Amino acid sequence: MTTPLPLHTLGSTGPQVPPLGLGCMGMSALYGEADRAESIATIHAALDAGITLLDTGDFYGMGHNELLINEALRTAPAALREQALTSVKFGALRDAAGGWGGYDGRPAAVKNFAAYSLQRLGTDHIDIYRIARIDPDVPIEETVGAIAELVEAGHVRHIGLSEAGAESIRRAAAVAPISDLQIEYSLISRGIEEQILPTTRELGIGITAYGVLSRGLISGHFARDRELAPGDFRGMSPRFQGENLQRNLDLVEELRKISEQKGVSVAQIAIAWVLSRGEDIMPLVGARSRDRLTEALGALDVTLDADELAAIERAVPAGAAAGDRYPTAQMAHLDSEH
Ligand SMILES: NC(=O)c1ccc[n+]([C@@H]2O[C@H](COP(=O)([O-])OP(=O)(O)OC[C@H]3O[C@@H](n4cnc5c(N)ncnc54)[C@H](OP(=O)(O)O)[C@@H]3O)[C@@H](O)[C@H]2O)c1
Repeated sequence: MTTPLPLHTLGSTGPQVPPLGLGCMGMSALYGEADRAESIATIHAALDAGITLLDTGDFYGMGHNELLINEALRTAPAALREQALTSVKFGALRDAAGGWGGYDGRPAAVKNFAAYSLQRLGTDHIDIYRIARIDPDVPIEETVGAIAELVEAGHVRHIGLSEAGAESIRRAAAVAPISDLQIEYSLISRGIEEQILPTTRELGIGITAYGVLSRGLISGHFARDRELAPGDFRGMSPRFQGENLQRNLDLVEELRKISEQKGVSVAQIAIAWVLSRGEDIMPLVGARSRDRLTEALGALDVTLDADELAAIERAVPAGAAAGDRYPTAQMAHLDSEH
C-alpha cells in the first residue's frame, strides 16, 4: 500500500472514511457492458489506494453488484478486506425484464432486503444502509426505525439517506443518527446548495455525492457520437439528448480550457471542484476500470485556488446544465426535488 489517505468521520456519527468513495453501480448496470475481471481489479486497486468505501445497491443488476463486491472482497488481501466499508441501498422494486416498480420502505421489507444483502455480500454487517428513494406510502420514521433495529441487532452499523429533501432529513434524524445523505452533486447539479446542504450541515450529516461527473457527461471523455447500449441510463437521461447534449458538452469544452491550463484532466477538475466544497462532501466516483480510477485519484492532488474556482464557476455557472438530471418519471421519485 502507498501513503495512507487521510480519514475523517462521515458526518458527525458515521464511519471513518477517506476523501473519495468508489461507486460500483456501473460495474453491473446502467452504463452498458462491464468487464467483470476489470471491475474486480478496480475494486482491489481502490482498496489498495485506501478508497475503503464501496457503494452499491441490491437492485444494481438485481444482486449482481453485491455478488461482485463479495467476490472482490473474498479475493482481496485480508488487510484490505478488513478495512472495506459497504454502503448499500435497498428498496427499489424490479421485474425480470429490468423494469422498475416503485419502492418498498415497510419495516418488514427493510429487514427482508437486508437479510438478502448480507447473504449476497458474504459479510456479517453492512456499514451504511439506506433506502434508495423514500417510499411515499411509508413514513420515513418507520423505514429509518427498521434500520435502527438492524443497527441494534448488529447487522448494520450506520444509517444513511438517499435523495431525501430537507424535511425528510429532519424527520429521519429525529429517529436515529444519520451518517450521510447520498445525493447527486456536481458542477452541473447544484440543487442541494439552497436547502439540503444547510440542513445536513446543521444536523451533522455528511454528503456522499454521486454523479460528480454527471455519469460521464462532464468527464471530458464523453463524445457526442458515442453509441449507447440498450438500457444505458444515458439513453433516457434528458441531459444526454440532442440539443441538451450539445449545450452540456459545450460547457465541458469551457472546463477543458481550464484543465489544460492547469495540466490536469477535465474529470480531475470536476472531482476536485466537489472536493473543494467542504470536507463533509465525499465524492463517490463511478470508475469501472483501473485507468479511470487512477484518473479520479489524481483529483486528490489538485488544489484549486480562489481564481481557479472563480474561472470554473464562470465556465459552468450554477444552473447552466441543459435538461433535468433524470427522466420525468424518475424525477417524481426524488423527495429531494419536491
Ligand atoms: N443514490 C442514488 O440515487 C445514486 C444514483 C446513481 C449512482 N449512485 C452511486 O454513485 C456512484 C457513482 O455515480 P455515477 O456512476 O453517476 O458517477 P459518475 O462518476 O458521475 O459517472 C461515472 C461514469 O463516468 C465515466 N468516467 C469517465 N472518466 C471517469 C473517471 N476518471 N472516473 C470515474 N468515472 C469516469 C465512466 O465511464 P466509463 O466507465 O465508460 O469510462 C462512468 O460511466 C454509483 O456507482 C452508485 O454507487 C447513487
